[in-house]
Amino acid sequence: MDLARCRYIVVEGPIGAGKTSLARQIAEHLDAEMLLEQPEDNPFLSRFYDDMARFALPTQLTFLFQRADQLRELAQLDMFRQPTVADFLLDKDPLFARINLTDDEYALYEKVFKHLKPQTAVPDLVIYLQAPVDTLVSRVRMRGIPFEQAVPDDYLARIADAYARFFYQYDEAPTLIINSERLNFVDNPAHMKLLLDRVAGMRARREFFNLGQG
Ligand SMILES: Nc1ncnc2c1ncn2[C@@H]1O[C@H](COP(=O)(O)OP(=O)(O)OP(=O)(O)O)[C@@H](O)[C@H]1O
Ligand SMILES: [Mg+2]
Repeated sequence: MDLARCRYIVVEGPIGAGKTSLARQIAEHLDAEMLLEQPEDNPFLSRFYDDMARFALPTQLTFLFQRADQLRELAQLDMFRQPTVADFLLDKDPLFARINLTDDEYALYEKVFKHLKPQTAVPDLVIYLQAPVDTLVSRVRMRGIPFEQAVPDDYLARIADAYARFFYQYDEAPTLIINSERLNFVDNPAHMKLLLDRVAGMRARREFFNLGQG
């Protein structure tokens, strides 16, 4: 896989997996545009972590509109002029909705999703970052965002599980599945180089990278 020929790259994975960190690194490496999630602009997110049942629907709909608007803008961008690296797939939206909404709320959400779903380009490469739940928990704690400190460990576990099931069947784009537990591409440039070399070595549509495993 020649990263330099990729026009649209997406880094995905559960909360705390390192999506934004890796998307920034790849964008810097390629001098690419970034399309990053904006959780800080979701006025319901902090209240959601305090009272999930009460604020799940407004939190979800706010993220859906945000992501649909960002992807609609992306469709207008001339990606052939400059590549784009994103830290979300629109598909992640129903993944969270299914976990957080009641059946009635989900039925309503689905109508809105179908109505809003913009035509989105298919990524040239998807990087799915995995890490054990205790690693995700410690990264979210270490990141130190105040309202995230109340996030229950089992919520991160359910999100991580839903991602594993989603990517088990995902086949829309070439996918590199990376176990980031021991791969610190944030603080260790040698690990970032290993990751870029691994992408360059990709030959099949779906491959794995687990540092320390043959
Ligand atoms: N591979 C890694 N090794 C060590 N620390 C990491 C790694 N990846 C990310 N981190 C650290 O973990 C924290 C979470 O990373 P980041 O914000 O990139 O995750 P994210 O997947 O974008 O999370 P969210 O879903 O909440 O947006 C950050 O403090 C980051 O520096
Ligand atoms: Mg992020």
